[in-house]
Amino acid sequence: MISKCLYPVAGYGTRFLPATKSMPKEMLPIVNKPLIQYGVEEAVSAGMTNMAFVTGRGKRAIPDHFDFSYELETEISGSGKEAYLKETRELIEKCTFSYTRQRQMKGLGDAILTGETLVGNQPFGVILADDLCLTDGESVMSQMVKLFEEFQCSIVAIQEVPTEEIHKYGVIKGERIRDDVYRVETMVEKPKAEDAPSNLAVIGRYILTPDIFDILRNTPPGKGGEIQLTDAIMTQAQQGKVIAYKFKGKRFDCGHVDGFIEATNYVYQNIYKANS
Ligand code: UTP
Repeated sequence: MISKCLYPVAGYGTRFLPATKSMPKEMLPIVNKPLIQYGVEEAVSAGMTNMAFVTGRGKRAIPDHFDFSYELETEISGSGKEAYLKETRELIEKCTFSYTRQRQMKGLGDAILTGETLVGNQPFGVILADDLCLTDGESVMSQMVKLFEEFQCSIVAIQEVPTEEIHKYGVIKGERIRDDVYRVETMVEKPKAEDAPSNLAVIGRYILTPDIFDILRNTPPGKGGEIQLTDAIMTQAQQGKVIAYKFKGKRFDCGHVDGFIEATNYVYQNIYKANS
């Protein structure tokens, strides 16, 4: 059983300034729900109940969101408006939430290592909440947990991306062992299209085994002077211990404006309007 999910949310979200000047990017709403809540719901659907956040300065809205708001809740108690908070209240009741702060913005790898104190010595999920993943049935994290149960090693979610977007991602090369499953041999962080080993890009969903922490501790800064999670996963891959999974579902890159708008339109049409 994987019970913990780690959310690295320390980034500045510069692509959304000025909206993210005093508000975390993960609190930006897709229609009426913040990105981070979609992420927590996905982890819960995969059986996880301990939510661990690596935060930074200016992120207080996240712990506040996953806490009761007595004044507001007393105010709307007994009115029809209570229904708007129902899903959020249920999440808060199901889960525990813990927080630690990344001291300096030294990259995703460093953020994951900072989360060790919250995760301990067990496999855990990682959700980058600005990648919004939506499915008709089983959530992406839930699909990945099943694969973890089978392979008992780190799992990364991948999708095919067009050539002109390859330079934005970590890209894998691996041996295809099933239709949608690869054993990873190589991973390159943000390659030029001509140097990329494939068009299979890693997106913001991982299951990691806890040996990743020791590997990260010994991983020198890589591309951009940051400690790259990709480099540490590459070390696991060299030991044959990483599976890449072409997930079933839709993924929206809400870390930039175009993806955010696309997600908003999709959720409005297919979820919000369809259910109201
Ligand atoms: P991004 O680079 O996409 O996020 O990092 P960002 O830095 O917030 O965005 P921009 O480029 O300035 O607009 C991927 C994920 O890793 C986290 C971010 O919060 C995001 O979820 N991250 C990144 C950290 O937690 N710490 C870091 O040092 C770097």
